[in-house]
Amino acid sequence: MSGDRAGRRGPLGIGVIGVGQRGRRHLRSVREAGAGDVPVVALADTHEPSLAEARAVLAEGPGGADAARVYRDWRELLADDAVDAAIVALPNQLHAEVAVAALQRGKHLLLEKPVALSVDDCRRIERAARDSRGSVQVGLELRYSTVARRLGDEIAAGRIGEPRLAWCHEFRAPFREKVGGWILDPARSGGTFVEKNCHHFDLLSWLLGSEPERVAAFGGREVVYRERPGILDNAWVVVEHRGGKRASLGVGMFSNVHKLEIGVLGDEGLIEGDLRGRAITIERAHGAAETIAVAGPAADRLAEHGGADLRQMEAWLDTIARAAPPQVTLADGVRSLLVALAAQRAVDTGTVVALDALAGG
Ligand SMILES: NC(=O)c1ccc[n+]([C@@H]2O[C@H](COP(=O)([O-])OP(=O)(O)OC[C@H]3O[C@@H](n4cnc5c(N)ncnc54)[C@H](O)[C@@H]3O)[C@@H](O)[C@H]2O)c1
Repeated sequence: MSGDRAGRRGPLGIGVIGVGQRGRRHLRSVREAGAGDVPVVALADTHEPSLAEARAVLAEGPGGADAARVYRDWRELLADDAVDAAIVALPNQLHAEVAVAALQRGKHLLLEKPVALSVDDCRRIERAARDSRGSVQVGLELRYSTVARRLGDEIAAGRIGEPRLAWCHEFRAPFREKVGGWILDPARSGGTFVEKNCHHFDLLSWLLGSEPERVAAFGGREVVYRERPGILDNAWVVVEHRGGKRASLGVGMFSNVHKLEIGVLGDEGLIEGDLRGRAITIERAHGAAETIAVAGPAADRLAEHGGADLRQMEAWLDTIARAAPPQVTLADGVRSLLVALAAQRAVDTGTVVALDALAGG
């Protein structure tokens, strides 16, 4: 168990701040990953229907609906000594304030993406993390999806040589409705790139193994978000990475076909897959395309995110228990946010935006 729990008895206590759609998914994942040994001891939310649904999720577990204390103010949850680790699944504009307060209390954090909405808020979280006994894992859980992990493993094994060009296409339906409508308000969500595509910018940097430096982008809201200033419904983004590597992202939020394709071209081959699928393909010079089935029990059991939600939770709980560093770090979260902010600025200004130029913004 982590150092700050020295001298304390009993299992790790989890608090969930924000029990909307995502927070309730985490409640289920804690139960599955913790195999009943990791209790959710507290919930915080301001919306009674969200709390009622969260209690219904708890009711399916061994402790029953009353297993967790319920707070309407997240500050009270953070003051609860039974909470060792907190999951923050609030609307995006609240992430920074709550993360800083949680770290000041020494809590371990699973902080949903995007880490924050501005560079200044990222810096505040980083300072709080440096001074805290608590750790931060960022909820970029697509890293744990069956397909993405296999792509990463094959690239690391040298199957396509040096990865050079990477791409991702997310074609999907419009955003689902959220409590209080925060997702379609750019002041609260950060807009499409920040809210959604930070996941994909993270995967592209990770698979290329290279830092993003400059972003060019075109985008608009000609289809489903005509009446939603600040929310793009289609875009094409190009990201220049260090070492002559390049990535692109295409996003369409009006699609009746759901695709989340990702691919990487290396100097010895090409690898690709759809994160919603169950196979990847590798093509190398003079060889037939090889299709590798990657379906696993976790992917089938927890269809959402290809089993990633459960594996993310297992990894987070495990690293806390072993006092090991988180696997998807605050730096990963900040990097993916910077690319998203740069892409938004590139669309807004029609210029190429260097990530360095965002510092302090
Ligand atoms: N990693 C992923 O794949 C993924 C998927 C979905 C959502 N998310 C992220 O999770 C977060 C929540 O998204 P969601 O889909 O659950 O939204 P949601 O609207 O369903 O839930 C948000 C909850 O926060 C509560 N809330 C709002 N203000 C509060 C406050 N001041 N104090 C306490 N509770 C408050 C709301 O009442 C609501 O229950 C967002 O940051 C989103 O980006 C991540």
